[in-house]
Amino acid sequence: MTPQHQDIKHILQSERLNVPVRVYGWVKTFRNDRFIVINDGSTIQNLQLVIEPANYDEAFLKKISTGAAIYAEGELVESLGKGQAVEVQVSKLEVLGEADPETYPIQPKKHNLEFLREKAHLRPRTTLFGAIMRTRSSLAYAVHDYFRRNGFVYVNTPIITGIDAEGAGQMFRVTTWEPENIPLDEAGKPDYRKDFFGKKTNLTVSGQLEAETYAMALGKVYTFGPTFRAENSNTTRHLAEFWMIEPEVAFLDLDGDMDLAEDFVKSIIGFVMKSNAEDLAWLEKRLLDEEKRLPKDKRSDMPLREKLQFVLDNRFVRISYTEAIDILKNSKPAKKGKFQFRPQWGMDLQTEHERYLVEKHFKSPVIVFDYPADIKAFYMRLNADGKTVRAMDVLFPGVGEIIGGSQREERLDVLLEKMRRMGISEKELWWYVDLRRYGTAFHSGFGLGFERMVQFVTGMGNIRDVIPYPRYPKSAEF
Ligand code: 4AD
Ligand code: MG
Repeated sequence: MTPQHQDIKHILQSERLNVPVRVYGWVKTFRNDRFIVINDGSTIQNLQLVIEPANYDEAFLKKISTGAAIYAEGELVESLGKGQAVEVQVSKLEVLGEADPETYPIQPKKHNLEFLREKAHLRPRTTLFGAIMRTRSSLAYAVHDYFRRNGFVYVNTPIITGIDAEGAGQMFRVTTWEPENIPLDEAGKPDYRKDFFGKKTNLTVSGQLEAETYAMALGKVYTFGPTFRAENSNTTRHLAEFWMIEPEVAFLDLDGDMDLAEDFVKSIIGFVMKSNAEDLAWLEKRLLDEEKRLPKDKRSDMPLREKLQFVLDNRFVRISYTEAIDILKNSKPAKKGKFQFRPQWGMDLQTEHERYLVEKHFKSPVIVFDYPADIKAFYMRLNADGKTVRAMDVLFPGVGEIIGGSQREERLDVLLEKMRRMGISEKELWWYVDLRRYGTAFHSGFGLGFERMVQFVTGMGNIRDVIPYPRYPKSAEF
């Protein structure tokens, strides 16, 4: 790109003083009719512009307020004030767009996150959301970089799917019908043959099944796309629309799948620790300031960057589901009746259990594998015990389950039997079953919830604050 102006990031990195600069940005603060601090989003750092008030009339100076877009030309000089190394001595200043201070909601003070969610179109102007969204962008880049370096093919699986249920949550229907005018068949039921696709269609809950077909041809593939689940869960870790990364690998067993998951997440975390060092330093300080208000036992054990480094430096603990249940049964909270759900073999691990294992017992990321077959999806490979499947979940501090994956059932008869038992239509998934008919082989994969990873890396408590426009029950503004 040939820039018509310079990003603040490049100006601050250049270290060349007494050179002309041309910058654009939005005003953060304006003090003493002289000091304009601007930011252009290229970096968390602001740039101070110094103007000579006598050169401008009062009406013009009034236009310079927080949120206004401005253009400035001048000379980059060493700053005499503290707080910044360099500043711009302005020779020409234009206000491109004013921001009426009476109504502009983003003022130079701390706003609470609920308030900012209602102003989701303007919250990227805050230092906090700038830092989060730059970090999110780098994480996405790191994902593609990791898979590219490791020989994976990027596959775009469909967003509109004919699959009706895969066991990954409630689906959103896709149709062109008007609800008050639905064509009916002879029996008075909706005649889906007359709908746009000639059948029932939904938004995808996962690209896995289609990714498997490509893995069984190209070997190593991954998807990275939006995913939709109509679960009515108003938690800090669920969205109705989120992004998921799903690698799928032929000739890989569950141990290899766990190795891949661990290597992958360490790689992308390591990447952003370097690429977004300034953003993370700021986010860490924010968390420390927030926590000062909490009692000591509610504060986190480690500052943000130390926590990220800890993940990089330590091998994830790997335990079977059965071992996990034993640990939970013998734990203090179980004995004192402190868990809301009493740990029992066969139950799904609840958030409180996951957090106990990760944050109290092991104090480390944990991979739990070999879950009971009855609580997991139909496609997971049945173990010899006939009771458990080759599933694995990666559990992280704060966010809980960040990855869910498995070795897939590659045996035709076992798969068909399982589908029958779980009421999954063989007729609908004929193409998926075909993979087990033609050149079947063991293969594995997993799904990483992208927003949960962004939450972990930025230390944000609520998943609604790590995606530009969160979608959740009763909320689809913007
Ligand atoms: O465990 P899940 O449901 O696994 C699958 O969908 C598999 N098909 C993945 C695979 O093997 N290819 O979802 C995977 C991850 C979860 O661990 C979680 O991080 C995230 O997706 N996730 C959500 N993130 C935000 N909001 C939601 N409603 C989520 N549901 C799952
Ligand atoms: Mg899961």
